[in-house]
Amino acid sequence: MPKPLIAGNWKMNGSRAALAEVDAIAAAAERANGVDVAICPPFTLIEPAVRKVEGTPVAIGGQDCHWAEKGAYTGWTSCAMLVEAGARLVIVGHSERRQYAHETDEEVRRKAEAAIAAGLTAIVCVGETEAERDAGEAEAVVARQLRGSLPTDGAERLVVAYEPVWAIGTGRTASCDDVAAIHAAIRRDLRAILGDAAGAQVRILYGGSVNAGNAAELLAVADVDGALVGGASLTAAAFVPIVEAAAAQG
Ligand code: 13P
Repeated sequence: MPKPLIAGNWKMNGSRAALAEVDAIAAAAERANGVDVAICPPFTLIEPAVRKVEGTPVAIGGQDCHWAEKGAYTGWTSCAMLVEAGARLVIVGHSERRQYAHETDEEVRRKAEAAIAAGLTAIVCVGETEAERDAGEAEAVVARQLRGSLPTDGAERLVVAYEPVWAIGTGRTASCDDVAAIHAAIRRDLRAILGDAAGAQVRILYGGSVNAGNAAELLAVADVDGALVGGASLTAAAFVPIVEAAAAQG
């Protein structure tokens, strides 16, 4: 079984003062054997966050990147820039970017390829909307997103996050049965797209209203190899119990 990864996505939240939370998270991560821990703060906080976690097992990541190395792309950040700032991973294709920035599967794939080529771990996000789930299309939507968004090389630096859009920031989580069904389907798709051995090793995270109260049961579901956590990653008090829940399953 792949080593679990508990990753925090701060989205457009946080400040220099909030980096005290990273200190506390790093201290807890040192006690959490067998779990990888990451925090993805806004771009401006990456470098100071990297300084906070030096010498600890916590990795810092970005929340988006561009596929080009450099150029006339106002407002974007390249993978080389993330690497220079000390980031070790990057989230790509988050549903908020697919929705508000109209990112396509093709763009997400190019970003993931660039991230992996730059030496970053790419967390590729997929997930259906509520209307798609109600129409019985959840598995088909996720399968289509995977086919379009996944790079076919560099599986050792690839992570997939299943985040049903309707569960993000709503306090509603998918049921363990639904999570099991989608994660099993994602695992099958990963094996088909990447080959058996590589597809078996890619971590599949669940995301969407994960918190201290539901982490243990979600992390116990087959093929759930960790969590991508939004709101509950903003404070150590909320995030550390999720890390501990993952460590307790080891
Ligand atoms: P919440 O944990 O706040 O629902 O956010 C999930 C998410 O979008 C993580 O990327």
